[in-house]
Amino acid sequence: MKLFNQDLPQGASSMSYAGLLERLEILRSTLRWASRLDRPDIEKLLRQANAVRDEVMQLSHTERFIQAVGSQAAPEPIPGERRQALLARSFVFEGTFGDNPRLLDALEIAEKAAPTDLPVLVDGESGTGKELMAKVIHANGARADKAYISVNCGAIPESLIESELFGHKRGAFTGAATDRKGKFESAHKGTIFLDEIGELPLQGQVKLLRVLQSHEIQRVGSDETIAVDARIVAATNKNLRQLIELGQFREDLFYRLSVIHVTLPPLRERKDEIPLLLAYYGDEAAEALKRRPVALTPVLRAFLLDYTYPGNIRELRNLMYRLACLAGDTADIAHLPEDIRPVAPARIETAAPDPPASLAEAKRAASDDAERACLERGLKDVGGTVAELARRWDMNRSHLQILLKKHGLHSKDFRRH
Ligand SMILES: Nc1ncnc2c1ncn2[C@@H]1O[C@H](COP(=O)(O)OP(=O)(O)O)[C@@H](O)[C@H]1O
Ligand SMILES: [Mg+2]
Repeated sequence: MKLFNQDLPQGASSMSYAGLLERLEILRSTLRWASRLDRPDIEKLLRQANAVRDEVMQLSHTERFIQAVGSQAAPEPIPGERRQALLARSFVFEGTFGDNPRLLDALEIAEKAAPTDLPVLVDGESGTGKELMAKVIHANGARADKAYISVNCGAIPESLIESELFGHKRGAFTGAATDRKGKFESAHKGTIFLDEIGELPLQGQVKLLRVLQSHEIQRVGSDETIAVDARIVAATNKNLRQLIELGQFREDLFYRLSVIHVTLPPLRERKDEIPLLLAYYGDEAAEALKRRPVALTPVLRAFLLDYTYPGNIRELRNLMYRLACLAGDTADIAHLPEDIRPVAPARIETAAPDPPASLAEAKRAASDDAERACLERGLKDVGGTVAELARRWDMNRSHLQILLKKHGLHSKDFRRH
C-alpha cells in the first residue's frame, strides 16, 4: 500500500488549521482504507501522526487553543436543536431536512467544509442529493457569488474529456476550429463540481491529479500554463475504493479528492425524512402545475411512507409530480406507476436485507416484496381459497399458483378455522 508522502522538511511547518486538517484527513483515509499494515507502514504513520500532533500543540500554544478545548464538553443535543442551530447560522440549503442524525452529520460537515478551500468528495446512491450538496458547499462558502461549474465526467466521450476540462487551442485536433476555454478556467475563483468522478478515464485522472497539485492547467495543444483557482467538489455513486482495487481509479487522486468525505444515506435509511419531503414536493408540484396540493388517501400515504425508493429523493420527487398531474383532488394507489403497484401499505420488514448490488436489483427486490405482500393480503381476504382469489383478480389460477409457490406461500395457512 501507498502512504501519503508529506513528511515536512526539518523546521518547516504548514501551521494552519486547514493544512493540519488536510493532513489529518489524509492520515484517516489511509488508515480507513488500509487492507493491511506492515510494521514499517505503522511506524511511518505514527511518525506522521506525531508530527501533526506536535504542530497542533504549537498552534494551540500560540493561539491559546487549549483554553477552548479545556472548556465544558458539549451536552447531549435536544431533539430539533441541531436542525435549528444550522438554520440559525443562516445555513443556505435549497431543499428540506429534518432531524435525521446521519443527514445532519453530512450537512454539518458540509457547513464546516464550505468556508475552506479543501476538496470535498460526496458519495451516495443516485438521487440522494449529491449535486444539491455540492451547491450547498458552494453557496455557504466565500465563493458563493463566483462561478459554479458542473461537469458530468460520465457524460463526456473519452476523447473529448481533456478538452472539456482544460480547453483547447485552435487546430489542436480535428474539429478544434477556435481556441476554447475549459471548465476549469470557467470555474476560476469559483467552484467546479466533478460529477460521476468514478467514470473519469485513467488518462483524465492523471491530468486532474496534476491540476490538483499545481493549480495550473494547459489547454490541449498549448504549452502555455494558466493558473486556475477552482475549489473542487467531486461526487460518485460508485465505491471508489473498489475501483482502486480493480485498477480503475488512482489511489493518489482519491486521497486528494477526499480530504473531506461526505456520505449521503439512501432515503430508505432516513425514512423519518419522508413526511417532510412529501409535503415539500407536494407543494412544489402543486405550484409548478398551478393547482391545489393533492390530498393522499391513507393507503397511498402509508405506501409512500414505507416504500423503499430505489431512486431515492429523485424518485420521490417524480412521484409527487406524477400524482399532482394525474390525480384530481385526492390521489390513490391507482395513480402510482404500474411497476411499483400493487402495493403493500403495511409491509412487514423481514430481517435487514443486504444492500442491493444495483438499482435494477433494488427495484426487483422492492417489486418482489410488494408482490408477496399483495398475495398475502389477497389470500387473507378470501380465506385461503385460491380459485376465489384468481376470480377476483381476473387471473389464471395456475399462474396464481406459480406465484404462490415462488414466494413459498401456502393457501391453507390462510384458511379461516
Ligand atoms: N434534502 C433534500 N430536500 C429536497 N430535495 C432534495 C433533497 N436532497 C435531494 N433533493 C432533490 O432530489 C433530486 C436528486 O438530487 P441530486 O442532488 O441530483 O442527487 P444525486 O446527484 O445524488 O443523484 C433533486 O431534485 C434534488 O433537488
Ligand atoms: Mg447526480
